[in-house]
Amino acid sequence: MTSNHFLDQPRIWYGGDYNPEQWPEEVWREDVRLMQAAGVNLVSLGIFSWAWLEPQPGQYDFGWLDRILDLLHAHGVHACLATATASPPPWLAHRHPESLPVTADGVTLWPGGRQAYCLHSEAYMQHASALVTLLAARYKEHPALAAWHINNEYGCHVSECFCDVSAAAFRTWLQARYGTLDALNHAWGTAFWSQRYGQWAEINPPRRAPTFANPTQQLDWRRFSSDSLIALHDMEVEILRRFTPQTPVTTNFMGFFKPADYRKWAHHEDTVSLDTYPDPSDSFAAAQNAAQCDLSRSLGDGKPWMLMEQTPSAVNWRPRNVLKQPGQMRLWSMQAVARGANTVMFFQWRAAKAGAEKFHGALVPHVGVENSRVWREVSALGNELQELGPLAQSRVVADVGILVDWQSWWALEQDSKPSTAVTFYDRLATFYGPLYAANLTTDFVFTDSDFANYKLLVIPNLYLVDDATAARLEAYVAAGGTAVIGFFSGIVDENEHIRLGGYPAPFRKLLGLRVEEFAPMAEGESNTVRFDDGATAACDLWADVIDLEGATALAAFTGNFFAGQPAVTEHAFGQGRAYYIGTRLAAEAMGALLGRICHAAGVMPPVSAPPGVEVVRRRTAEGRDLWFVLNHRPELATVTLLV
Ligand code: GLA
Repeated sequence: MTSNHFLDQPRIWYGGDYNPEQWPEEVWREDVRLMQAAGVNLVSLGIFSWAWLEPQPGQYDFGWLDRILDLLHAHGVHACLATATASPPPWLAHRHPESLPVTADGVTLWPGGRQAYCLHSEAYMQHASALVTLLAARYKEHPALAAWHINNEYGCHVSECFCDVSAAAFRTWLQARYGTLDALNHAWGTAFWSQRYGQWAEINPPRRAPTFANPTQQLDWRRFSSDSLIALHDMEVEILRRFTPQTPVTTNFMGFFKPADYRKWAHHEDTVSLDTYPDPSDSFAAAQNAAQCDLSRSLGDGKPWMLMEQTPSAVNWRPRNVLKQPGQMRLWSMQAVARGANTVMFFQWRAAKAGAEKFHGALVPHVGVENSRVWREVSALGNELQELGPLAQSRVVADVGILVDWQSWWALEQDSKPSTAVTFYDRLATFYGPLYAANLTTDFVFTDSDFANYKLLVIPNLYLVDDATAARLEAYVAAGGTAVIGFFSGIVDENEHIRLGGYPAPFRKLLGLRVEEFAPMAEGESNTVRFDDGATAACDLWADVIDLEGATALAAFTGNFFAGQPAVTEHAFGQGRAYYIGTRLAAEAMGALLGRICHAAGVMPPVSAPPGVEVVRRRTAEGRDLWFVLNHRPELATVTLLV
């Protein structure tokens, strides 16, 4: 790994996507003047400029990029220089129709939008590599170059391809994973429904089938497609590192984006970047934004990360695109800084005149900068951030880790489950929401993280777990940690085979219980639980029928044939404690329960603050605490520090 040198400076960087190819050069001069006025010092340059850089195959035009880079540099603006490979020019598909992506139904996705390439297309890879090589060679010493922006939102429109070339690549990937057909047949459980394979050539992607496709085939397809996205990224990284080993590389992630295993991916880049577009009309938007920020910090194990894109005002791609209210752009930007971002950036600098995104918000709106609320707000923020440079060298403090795992997410949300209403986002929000509301800052942790950094590990759902992770969780609690585990965890192994021996087999000892049956609830159905202090709470979605084997019940169901049996349990294990929640509790009860568990684990809210006031702490290397107090309410609020 190279050093993230520009993010290690005492500076919060400010700027956004800049697409000068959409404008005549006289506009560029106004752009750089306005950038200076707004405190902009970093732009993501040329993300969609491939057709401009290589108008016809092998005919390149870098003159305009030379000129704009020099102009930016002369005005103190650095570049997160794009490799421009996100959207191939029309000539690629015209010459190589086989480079187009194909859906599970066999439908070809044509050019005319963006990202129209198959993840395994040789033609795409050859042309993209050639372009990246020329860019790296040409700009490797340019003084404006701060970082490389690789491609753009990999997989955002095309995260998998079902064409014949991709099918062959899938077979190669499977051969590397399993070695023999016997091993594959075992892993895929092909004794079921006459699915046994006799030759590799018989294996296909999970294209549209008459009914449920083989679950392990589906899971391997997700692993393979995620690996394919990472491989395209690595192809570019390998070229860039040859020319500029000291320049950080990053690609913009989309937060909790299901198709790509971002934890695996983050190990392949220097800096994590986030594009975040919470819907201002959603009452959970602030919590969602906080979670995306926490994920971005955690993917890089706490290193500074880049807020790469957000809108200053509205997006254009929802059916109804509600504006951020005055002050909300600043508030959500500060939320990112509070949670570890060392850049605040936007899509995009200047609002487009044409094209599909012409109604997307921008720092320079269509109306211009005179008498523009948006411009007033963004230029005020840019100048304000210039004062906050020293913040950049502090790190976020978190005592609680929330375990998330892409493999388990993929497996959980495949078809033919006890309840398809049990989803990753729902499970995550059920646990993250109350912790966020209580101002208990959480890191996300992954199966390869060091659990010992946390007083409390929260595991909203870990449907799929391998032996090593199960053993590490057990060891963490045995050594004195506290874990809280949500229902339908520890159910299958990495092949999506049931772990026999009573659910959840790998956690039974740790939790001191056995789940005999799952009782998923119908839509609209609910039950009630009674806690040990007499309090009652509604619950829905799911109930586990639990037998205690050493654990204590903290709450029991009151209805259905399992009335009186445990719904929430606690178990002392080794030096630590493990809790289990076998249903979905109403939000308030969930908050109270998590508060109780946190208290027992020695995790205390650092403040007393009314709902809607968010407090986050960053700590300097010298141990000084910097408090961010963010008021999401319209009225003034009083906050009391408790530490
Ligand atoms: C994404 C893309 C940008 C732009 C914005 C619009 O984040 O990376 O190119 O399309 O969405 O919100």
